[in-house]
Amino acid sequence: MFEHIEMYLGDPILSLMERYLQDEREEKVNLSIGLYYDQDGQVPMLETVRQAKEIVHSKVEQKALYLPMSGSPAYCEQVQQLIFPMFSELEHGKNRIATIQTLGGSGALKVGADFLKRWFPQASVRVSDPTWENHITLFEGAGFPVYKYPYLNAQNGDVHIEGMLSNLDSLPPQTVVLLHPCCHNPTGADLTPVQWDAVIAILQRRQLIPFLDMAYYGLGQGLMEDLYVVKALFDSGIRFLLSTSFSKIFSLYGERVGALSVVCTNPDEASRVLGQLKATVRRNYSSPPMHGALLVQTVLGDAQLRVQWLGELTSMRQRMRAMREKLYQLILEGGGAAARYAFLLNQQGMFSYTNFSARQVDELRREFGIYLIASGRMCIAGLNDGNVQRVADAMLAVEQV
Ligand code: LMR
Repeated sequence: MFEHIEMYLGDPILSLMERYLQDEREEKVNLSIGLYYDQDGQVPMLETVRQAKEIVHSKVEQKALYLPMSGSPAYCEQVQQLIFPMFSELEHGKNRIATIQTLGGSGALKVGADFLKRWFPQASVRVSDPTWENHITLFEGAGFPVYKYPYLNAQNGDVHIEGMLSNLDSLPPQTVVLLHPCCHNPTGADLTPVQWDAVIAILQRRQLIPFLDMAYYGLGQGLMEDLYVVKALFDSGIRFLLSTSFSKIFSLYGERVGALSVVCTNPDEASRVLGQLKATVRRNYSSPPMHGALLVQTVLGDAQLRVQWLGELTSMRQRMRAMREKLYQLILEGGGAAARYAFLLNQQGMFSYTNFSARQVDELRREFGIYLIASGRMCIAGLNDGNVQRVADAMLAVEQV
């Protein structure tokens, strides 16, 4: 009866992580999956999260109940204050946003995709070329045809803004456009505010449906800077969806803490959308888990812990920036061409696109135990003072492969 079921070939990112864990070489370096490693090569527990755990564990009685379908209300409130900081206090602003707690950023994308498929069944989806591989899988899985818009200028590692704008400007109304507000995954190439303004003008004129996926905010230029397009879209009055995650910025990967926010035009619309998001959750997994949300709401709801967390976020961002500069410097000292590796400095966030071929990526893994995604994506957060020289040498060594 199950004879026709095909073998799953694995996910390009998660399967590689399994392979990395099985690799017995001591000097191996994981530059594949988007995990933040600290200077000692550990995925840290943030000090603010540790303190929040103590507070949460002393309130065990809360944990026996189901959360509502939309998750913890206090958590959703804190999420709104964090990602819509400049306007969530305005009553008219806050009441036009529907926010639910989700199972990480992927859960937010999935609920958002199911919601859109139910209410915009004829729509298609456009994603950047390239994008996080799972965007395509996820939206196709929800029943959408998925196409790409030009994004990366392969010559210099910048955004191919003309190609992107002219593609978006050819789309029919109600096309869903997946956008990365900052720290683009997989390339690290981001739009400037001026470029975002040009994108927004097209989204508005062509009546497109923006879906922003934001998992790395605060790790690019800073929290407020990274939220530029969120604020600009909000101010433009366009309706949009926004998935967010606390996996990276709170180092809470396994807790699966994320949120989906849908910005509507008025409170009545927002309450109908919220109802439909709840219905989508109910028919998928009923309600989200509690523990991770309690940790996040405890940190964000406490003025002192919140400031402390912002400091930890800044440290993560600065460490990755320092590693970008160090790797670039070491490559140049080893004879690498400045123009070839300038992308390390120009791109931002957790990832960079090395422009290495699949063969070069294979060679890095086989010969040096250095793991990148087959597309050439490198996770900068896996670099530290102890391995960056080896990585620089290995990158130069595979140049001729
Ligand atoms: C990544 O891009 O490496 C992360 O978002 C982890 C994942 O689920 O793929």
